[in-house]
Amino acid sequence: MGKNIKTMPLGKIAGPLTSGYRDIFHGGPENVDYYQKTVQDTLEVITHFLQTRQTPLGDTSVHSNKNKIGLIDINSKETISVKECLTELCDIYINDATAFHHSSYVAHLNCPILIPTLAAEMIISSINSSMDTWDQSIGATAIELRLIEWMGKKLQYPEGFDGVFTSGGTQSNLMGLLLARDSYIKKNYNVIPDQHGLPAEAKKFKIFCSEMSHFSLSKGASILGLGKDAIISVPVDKDYRMDISKLKDLLYKEQENGNLPITLIGTAGTTDFGSVDPLHEISRIAQENGMWFHVDAAYGGGLLLSKKHCNKLSGIEKADSCTIDLHKTFFQPISASMFLMRDHSNVSFIQYHADYLNPKEQEACGVPNLVKKSLQTTRRFDALKFWFTLRTVGEEKLGSYIDEIIYLAKGTHYLLDEHQDFEVLNTPEISALVFRYAPEGLSKNKLTELNQKIKQAVFDSGKAMVAGTKVNNEFYLKFTLLNPMTTLVEMRNVIHLIQKIGEEQSKNLI
Ligand SMILES: Cc1ncc(COP(=O)(O)O)c(C=O)c1O
Repeated sequence: MGKNIKTMPLGKIAGPLTSGYRDIFHGGPENVDYYQKTVQDTLEVITHFLQTRQTPLGDTSVHSNKNKIGLIDINSKETISVKECLTELCDIYINDATAFHHSSYVAHLNCPILIPTLAAEMIISSINSSMDTWDQSIGATAIELRLIEWMGKKLQYPEGFDGVFTSGGTQSNLMGLLLARDSYIKKNYNVIPDQHGLPAEAKKFKIFCSEMSHFSLSKGASILGLGKDAIISVPVDKDYRMDISKLKDLLYKEQENGNLPITLIGTAGTTDFGSVDPLHEISRIAQENGMWFHVDAAYGGGLLLSKKHCNKLSGIEKADSCTIDLHKTFFQPISASMFLMRDHSNVSFIQYHADYLNPKEQEACGVPNLVKKSLQTTRRFDALKFWFTLRTVGEEKLGSYIDEIIYLAKGTHYLLDEHQDFEVLNTPEISALVFRYAPEGLSKNKLTELNQKIKQAVFDSGKAMVAGTKVNNEFYLKFTLLNPMTTLVEMRNVIHLIQKIGEEQSKNLI
């Protein structure tokens, strides 16, 4: 039997609220001081990190301590103050955290972030709206809807498009593959996929994308029950763009084998090379073969804002769905991505009505519940930071940052090219360069070994950070330039550092 509430002493009903826990929670007049002090202390630590960091990596003595797990105390019985915790965190994390804002961080597809987004981030976490119901996020839902409308127009989609914010390109790509699979099933079989599952023919479904496309597509195919083997990797041309004649050959071959090509994916900004597939031709072939056309513009999406370079994305407007990562070329903090679909009716493949969140009756009254468009339920109000960016920075300035990084990449290409000891694989279309230090007389294997050593030595120096990748099983170095503040002089210094390390390391290899 439950306790009779009337017989309970009042203090018991109030429980911990009267015994000193209240001051920890956000909100309420008695904890304003605690909140402000916490924010102030944290701000000091971050300001110190931003102002004193001279290199992309911090205190090398800390960062050389690879076994950090041993440093991490989770003794929750003896708790410490936030200030003490911040001090502890500096040793474990902040003192040697990778500084993406640093001009010689030129490694992965992670961008420096814009200051106004941080005001938004603070509001996002402090108010903690969840986008899964309209009543918990009224203004927030309006802002997200407005931004989806804005992005759809940037893509030049005709009326009737839709979209949603996602956690990243991986999730946006998964959504594209999901809608592609289910719209094909709906059109061709008497099956409602989200109700009945997959028809037997799904074993023959094939998804075509370039061999340079992102691995999240393969992962997506596997999650969707089609298997990684459903992915047909189309070879690229000399500029690392999908080779259209090879695509046609592979399509023909798969059809001849009785397989069913359902989706064709163009990448607008491949992860390694930043190359943009020929979107118009891909779209035409998709249409001719009754395939869904998805564009993965996780990297290249920012070009939409550049007057000089937006033509590189021409053809994207024909995509049935599109991935655009804001946490790459829109300079937003992780996580922020968008998934756009050309035709709103495709929402039906993921929508779900939960009585406690978005009952059908509510929708009939026109209440805009975003949960039905998302794979997530509880979801952050990431749209706010992008709205803040557009309102305070503006799209023209954002576009000029894109121009700047493309210019930087071209200049860096020139700097690498003038050195006879560097071999550069691509002319940058966006801002990625794949190259290696390749002095004469070394075999392919030795070059791989040398460049792996260079990458590690650059990292260990703490002075710069470069990425690496493999092309035809050989190891190359990679610059991904996403910082408009980086100058060509700084890039020359990074190249010089690589060359110096390369010269030293190659002595041990000959
Ligand atoms: C072309 C491309 N697509 C998708 C992704 C995955 O994006 P995310 O890391 O935001 O999930 C990436 C990541 O680098 C990418 O380069």
